[in-house]
Amino acid sequence: MLATNHEIDIPGALFCSLADARRATDALFNIVRPDSLYERPIPERHRIIFYIGHLEAFDRNLFQGRLFSLPDSSPQLDRLFAFGIDPVGGGLPTDQPSDWPSLGEVRKYVQGVRHEIDEGLRKLGQGISTGGGEFSPVLLLNVAIEHRLMHAETLAYMLHRLPYDRKIAPANIPNSLAGDRASGMVVIPSGAATLGLSRSDDAFGWDNEYERHTVEVPSFAIDRYKTSNAEYLEFLDSGGYANRKLWSDADWAWKESNGISHPAFWEKPDNGAEWFWKGMFAAIPLPLDWPVYVSHAEANAYARWAGKSLPTEAQWQRAAYGAPDGQSRQYPWGAKSSDATRGNFDFLNWDPVSVAAHPAGASAFGVEDILGNGWEWTSTVFAPFQGFEPFSFYRGYSADFFDGKHFVIKGASARTAACMLRPSFRNWFQAHYQYVYAGFRCVSNQLA
Ligand SMILES: [Fe+2]
Repeated sequence: MLATNHEIDIPGALFCSLADARRATDALFNIVRPDSLYERPIPERHRIIFYIGHLEAFDRNLFQGRLFSLPDSSPQLDRLFAFGIDPVGGGLPTDQPSDWPSLGEVRKYVQGVRHEIDEGLRKLGQGISTGGGEFSPVLLLNVAIEHRLMHAETLAYMLHRLPYDRKIAPANIPNSLAGDRASGMVVIPSGAATLGLSRSDDAFGWDNEYERHTVEVPSFAIDRYKTSNAEYLEFLDSGGYANRKLWSDADWAWKESNGISHPAFWEKPDNGAEWFWKGMFAAIPLPLDWPVYVSHAEANAYARWAGKSLPTEAQWQRAAYGAPDGQSRQYPWGAKSSDATRGNFDFLNWDPVSVAAHPAGASAFGVEDILGNGWEWTSTVFAPFQGFEPFSFYRGYSADFFDGKHFVIKGASARTAACMLRPSFRNWFQAHYQYVYAGFRCVSNQLA
């Protein structure tokens, strides 16, 4: 894992990936009108301007002293842009736009840091020591690339909440895909689910992905597709949001105190009768065959109403990657690498498509729409696997969230980069966070 400077061999593909990731986040900020970059579209998060500086500050703070030594040009900005926020139970930020540096200053900081990092990496690639050198460049570069790509996704959630007149829609917004839908649930026979990543694997993974292990899962049935807007509408129309019995104490208290009566991605414009989908760039009549996006609390209430449950992480993993022959697959569909026929991921779309649009992405057991088109909530509280060790250079990445208040989500959304489609990748959010591109499917543990 560790290397010294004279042993350094950085694959060229990693430099390309870093450049691609920078292009992805630059393009994302370009969909915001420049006069709206100091907005805060989600109350629990920083203003947009923070993230422009954060992506560079993160890379700089990560590489500094570990890969190389960089000049101390803007220590104040390095600190200001160091950390994002995820307040649990109140404590919303109160800063004002005037508390932040000007856009010109932030852009200059970004350019300067990129230049310094690129110079450092270039010299490193040539075996020229510039100080540091204690850590594996491959590991740290992967951390920087995936950190940036994860922000490319979470920033999309944030910009989704920005009013349409503050955004600039790209010229080519892809068309929505429809699909022919089978129905019902798929029975998954009892067997092992393989979770996690082995330290002997030659692949990058975050600290929470280790260690690889198997879990025996009794047979269960799982929905073939994610829960659609049409199905969720039945729950809503039947009074699901007003039925106390369907909600846990904490979820009910949250729903009541925030006046929540429908998914955050739905609205009734001008108090009309019909539901609309709040898309990234326009509101459209609610597409009934798209997956519903809701919080964990709302997903759980629906599952109770339907007489089912949310899957555990191990159940989801077995349905997605398990196979009748007992093998664990690299992708739900097998070993072939991902492409647009397999699912709605890797920045191809801004919004979901039909839950039945990608039959070629089905798992060995016939479960569809597994990767892409929206993450899926599980009932599993985010916790370390046995053998977990935090990265010494980023101790809080996962460990700060082992608080019993975050739940594992699996799969991917339309804005998830292809490199994160690996089976061991885990994501997590608070039960009451409504803005994730996450839906769910249910399981039934009582087989007839
Ligand atoms: Fe970050």
